[in-house]
Amino acid sequence: MTAPVLASSAAAAGMSAEVPAELPAERPVVVEVEGVSKTFGSGELAVQALKPCSLSVRQGELAALLGPSGSGKSTLLLSISLILEPSAGRIVINGQEVYNDGWTGIDDRAFRRRNIGFIFQQHNLIPFLTAIENVALVMQLNGIGRREATRRARELLGYLEIAHRAESLPANLSGGEQQRVAIGRALANEPPLILADEPTAALDTERGAKVMALLRKIARERRSAVITVTHDHRMIEGFDTVYRLDDGVLRRLPAAQAAAAAAAPAH
Ligand SMILES: Nc1ncnc2c1ncn2[C@@H]1O[C@H](COP(=O)(O)OP(=O)(O)O)[C@@H](O)[C@H]1O
Ligand SMILES: [Mg+2]
Repeated sequence: MTAPVLASSAAAAGMSAEVPAELPAERPVVVEVEGVSKTFGSGELAVQALKPCSLSVRQGELAALLGPSGSGKSTLLLSISLILEPSAGRIVINGQEVYNDGWTGIDDRAFRRRNIGFIFQQHNLIPFLTAIENVALVMQLNGIGRREATRRARELLGYLEIAHRAESLPANLSGGEQQRVAIGRALANEPPLILADEPTAALDTERGAKVMALLRKIARERRSAVITVTHDHRMIEGFDTVYRLDDGVLRRLPAAQAAAAAAAPAH
C-alpha cells in the first residue's frame, strides 16, 4: 500500500507532478483526515469498517472515492461530515479541529450548516416544498431572511440550469432535476466542503455524467473542495485525485492507475 500523500507536504517536497496544472499548490487545505478509523460493535461482533485512513483535499479540488460495496466509503464520508463518530484519529475542516480521538466540542449542527454541503444518493428533498423553497430553507436556517434567501435560491437554481423548475414540487421533477436541486441545497450556504455519496447511483449514465460535470464546475468555479463517492468507474474522468477503499483500507491511486480505473468497465 502506498502512503497517502498530503497535498501540503507534497507541495513542500516540491512534488509538483502530484498536482494538476490547473490547481495551484498554494490552495488552502479544506479537509484533513489523519488516521481516522471506525469499528462498529464490539467483541466478536466488531466490524472494523475503516482502518486508519488519511487524506487531504484542497480548495477547488475534486476528489473521487472509489471502492466496492461495503468497503467503508459511506463510513468515511459520514465521519467527515460529523454525522458518524469515528473510533480514533483526527479531522480538521476549514482550519477547525472537529475530531481528535473524540469530538472537540464544537456545535456540530451549526458547523455543518456553515461548512459542509452533503449530497446523498437519494435526493432527500422535502416533498411538500417546491424546488426553490427547498434551497431557500437551508439559507433561512442559517439566519438569512426569507426574501433574500428566495432571491439567492433563484440565482443558484439558475446556475444549476433548473430555474425554470423553481416552483415545482420534487415529485414533479425528473431524477436528474431532483439531484440538481439537492446540489443547490448543498451549495446554499456556500460551504467550503461538498461531500457527495454516490450522487449518480439513482441516475442513468447520461444524467449521472451531467451531475458529475456539475460537481466539477462547482469545484472549479466556486472553489469548493469536493469529495464524491462513486462505485462507477466511468464517472471519474476529470477528477484531480482518486482514492480507493478496499475492506476499510484507503489508498490514493497514482494518476496513471486512476486513468486505467476510469477506462475499466463498471461493476
Ligand atoms: N451502523 C452500522 N453498524 C454496523 N456495521 C455497519 C454500520 N454501518 C456500516 N457498517 C459496516 O461497515 C462496513 C462499511 O460500510 P459502508 O461504509 O456503508 O460501505 P460502503 O459505503 O463502501 O458500501 C460494512 O461492512 C458495513 O456492513
Ligand atoms: Mg455507501
